[in-house]
Amino acid sequence: MLVEVVQDQAALSERGGAIVAAQVRRKPHSVLGFPTGSTPLGVYERLIDVHRHEGLSFSQVTTFNLDEYVGLPTSHEQSYHHFMWSRLFDHLDVDPARVHTPRGTAEDLEGFCAWYESQITDAGGIDLQILGIGANGHLAFNEPGSSLASRTRVKPLTQKTIHDNARFFEHEDQVPRSAITMGIGTIMDARRLLLLATGVAKADGIKATLEGPITAMVPATIVQLHPHAHVLIDRAAASKLEYRHHDGVAEPV
Ligand code: PGA
Repeated sequence: MLVEVVQDQAALSERGGAIVAAQVRRKPHSVLGFPTGSTPLGVYERLIDVHRHEGLSFSQVTTFNLDEYVGLPTSHEQSYHHFMWSRLFDHLDVDPARVHTPRGTAEDLEGFCAWYESQITDAGGIDLQILGIGANGHLAFNEPGSSLASRTRVKPLTQKTIHDNARFFEHEDQVPRSAITMGIGTIMDARRLLLLATGVAKADGIKATLEGPITAMVPATIVQLHPHAHVLIDRAAASKLEYRHHDGVAEPV
């Protein structure tokens, strides 16, 4: 595990963008896994910059998103499909046929999840999976207690997540009750992981993830078993780490 601590959110965006851009430069037909959330937004802005100002093409890239609310059409402003297109894909030269987001309105959700897995396999597997992390250590919608071997499936949202996400909707009743999410096993199959976290609100989750025992109660702890996990965090997110000399730490915090 490579743990890299940078100064702040701006530095993380710069560095995260450079890592993803380097992957695409090295392998133009890379398969990338993308998260939604506030953490990767600066990384996405950096990728748009690199495309616009350095001419990096994403036309051969294949993408898979981690998750999507069940029941929201792709046009819904709170759908993760809408988030990804408005924040990233609309501003790059991606081939829409190579962009995959889980379809929350699929009639046969179980069948869709199996199909999504098969699409990842057919694409040759994910080269680089970018990840955010919840304050409780969740990955995508794999909340505490999720099987560490899980595959893409429908998961009910916890009451806490429904409550937390209500701020994006007019009323808490409008928050979907379940989501399609890649499983922990699906995420672990990626060749490389890039886990991003900023801010003191993530410090406990990062400490548990990097220094705690591997447990389904903190799903992100599974990254300890990944052969190529790069954890990129800012000083605030690193502030509760006891061991300051993780393999590859760029500087002491
Ligand atoms: P955030 O969400 O990037 O908005 O903090 C991350 C997550 O909950 O996985």
